[in-house]
Amino acid sequence: MNRRLGVLISGRGSNLQALVDAIGDRRLDATIAVVISNRADAHGLGHARRAGIEALCLDHREARSRDEHDRSVARELQDRDVGLVCLAGYMRLVGAPLLKAFPDAILNIHPSLLPAFPGIDAPRQALGHGVKVTGVTVHFVTAELDNGPIVIQRTVPVMRDDTPDTLSARILAEEHRAYAEAVATVLDGGWRIEGRRFIVP
Ligand code: GRF
Repeated sequence: MNRRLGVLISGRGSNLQALVDAIGDRRLDATIAVVISNRADAHGLGHARRAGIEALCLDHREARSRDEHDRSVARELQDRDVGLVCLAGYMRLVGAPLLKAFPDAILNIHPSLLPAFPGIDAPRQALGHGVKVTGVTVHFVTAELDNGPIVIQRTVPVMRDDTPDTLSARILAEEHRAYAEAVATVLDGGWRIEGRRFIVP
């Protein structure tokens, strides 16, 4: 598989930084070809530039429609010969133009054991529900939010005295390990998707 990554962000960019670190440590054999944010104030743009990675802002509010924005993102990724797109705190639904341009080649990381607690504030949802174990999911992106075939999941126990902040911090640390591992698995190839199942022989 083409090992050139495109990373889409909207904010802090700690998962982007985790991918940069994993590449630096040779845990992940890949190149980040470009980082694209839909927000100019995303901290992750700074992480990318400090690492010498090209970083662009494509503000969705400047596009005439959702599809037009997705087409621009797809074009920038294709222009740089990206083979795998990694969403890393990208706070937008991915629409048809981007999905069609990168079939089975867009990953997302989510801070819960999907299908539990999709959408925003997953650690807070988990605490509110009273689950004893939550975790992290890396999955392929489909048209439905937080719902594609699952590449890997990692568990995180919920402690009796956890607050949304303490639980989020432990989940985030697990995300950073899990994302690099999942991206490496997908780049290594040899897998197939059967229905909802991601299968590595
Ligand atoms: C992470 O919790 C990720 O799972 C979710 O949004 C958050 C982004 O954090 N999709 P960061 O921008 O990578 O620091």
